[in-house]
Amino acid sequence: MNFESYNPTKLIFGAGALSRLGEVASEYGKKALIVTGGGSVKRTGVFDRAVESLKSAGVAYAECAGVEPNPRISSVRRGVKAAREESCDMVIAIGGGSAMDASKVIAAGVLYDGDPWDLIGHGQANWVIPTQALPIITVPTMAATGSEMNEGAVISNEDSKIKSFVSATCLFPKVALADPELTVTLPKDQTAYGVCDIITHVTEGYFNGVDGTPIQDRFAEGVIINAIEWGRKAVADGNDLEARAQVQWASIVALNGWVQAGVHMLAPVHMIEHALSAHHDITHGAGLAIVNPAWMRFAAKVRPERFAQFAQRVFGLSPEGKDDMTLAMEGIDAFVEFLRSIGCPTRLSEVGIGDELFEQYAEDAKLVVHDGNGNLAGRPPLTKDDIVEILRSAL
Ligand code: NZQ
Ligand code: ZN
Repeated sequence: MNFESYNPTKLIFGAGALSRLGEVASEYGKKALIVTGGGSVKRTGVFDRAVESLKSAGVAYAECAGVEPNPRISSVRRGVKAAREESCDMVIAIGGGSAMDASKVIAAGVLYDGDPWDLIGHGQANWVIPTQALPIITVPTMAATGSEMNEGAVISNEDSKIKSFVSATCLFPKVALADPELTVTLPKDQTAYGVCDIITHVTEGYFNGVDGTPIQDRFAEGVIINAIEWGRKAVADGNDLEARAQVQWASIVALNGWVQAGVHMLAPVHMIEHALSAHHDITHGAGLAIVNPAWMRFAAKVRPERFAQFAQRVFGLSPEGKDDMTLAMEGIDAFVEFLRSIGCPTRLSEVGIGDELFEQYAEDAKLVVHDGNGNLAGRPPLTKDDIVEILRSAL
């Protein structure tokens, strides 16, 4: 297919990159709003090192701390208020995807004369597409979302229980300072969930994209194979800096637009997971480990040859004597085995979710991204009953 590809974020990658923060920030102004999560960056000393670097470059700062996992619109509103009161001229996120996503909407919210929730709701009729934002600098402390080098942000509305997203050119960070050393303190479980998130970003395009993308297929398979290989190592030994660096790089390329170029990615697994995490506040990557295999088993019925290719190329399974569907199912089994081996849950019951709200999750998932018939966009498009069936198979 014809396509356009654009990613203006400057990436500074490697151990020690954090020390460049002051130098980088000083190009964008004199005062930064630093957005952080629930305190990990303070406990690990990363925050102090960041502040030291800013001070030495003459950049002052104000803070918006305490952004929760699955960041809430109330935290974004708080950040917008702080940035305005403190006359900040840039926003620096130091943390995981949650701090980074909040920082992006704060940066746009400061220049928007209305409630920042208006800016969330990609594709909805009343969506206000943000066109300007304060300069954003991202300093990821975990590998998962790829938010550090993309134009997306996912925010939850705690009142309506809707988790939705915004994607807009002005939200590309000016600079991403990806320093894998900052990720060595990430606990095993979050490391594993991050690896699952990375892989799922790639599988969404791989399974829901258009036909005829041989280079992107091999690119996607390579990212998945490496995320599996190095993800295992990062989970086994959190201090393995080589593994941390490889996983960080995988997280960036998995969702910065390169693998998706020309693919026309749709993300039904993400939409279903977002509905779950909006209601139950589960970790995004853990929710994906449950939804993705269940979705794969459903979608393989429509396109078994694609899933057979995945089994053969990613897990090295032999096609000999098997039809596509048999091979496809073996590949999905191998994927589940990998997820379990690194400690991810793969059933809803493991995270305490029953079937009481299945219809609600299905409605919510369809509400955020749907096709002309009102079905959840994907390959195949999913009706409400389809989504319920997928969730039921994951109980
Ligand atoms: O909050 P703190 O105290 O910082 O602790 C965090 C949090 O508890 C902790 N953590 C992060 N770095 C650490 C660390 N703990 C110790 N050492 C470190 N170095 O890890 C926990 C999870 O953090 P969070 O930021 O919530 O995780 P993640 O990066 O997985 O982000 C998840 C959010 O991103 C959205 C998800 O929906 C979810 O809301 N997504 C954003 C995307 C995007 N912008 O492109 C795409 C994704 O598909 C995803 O939907
Ligand atoms: Zn994700």
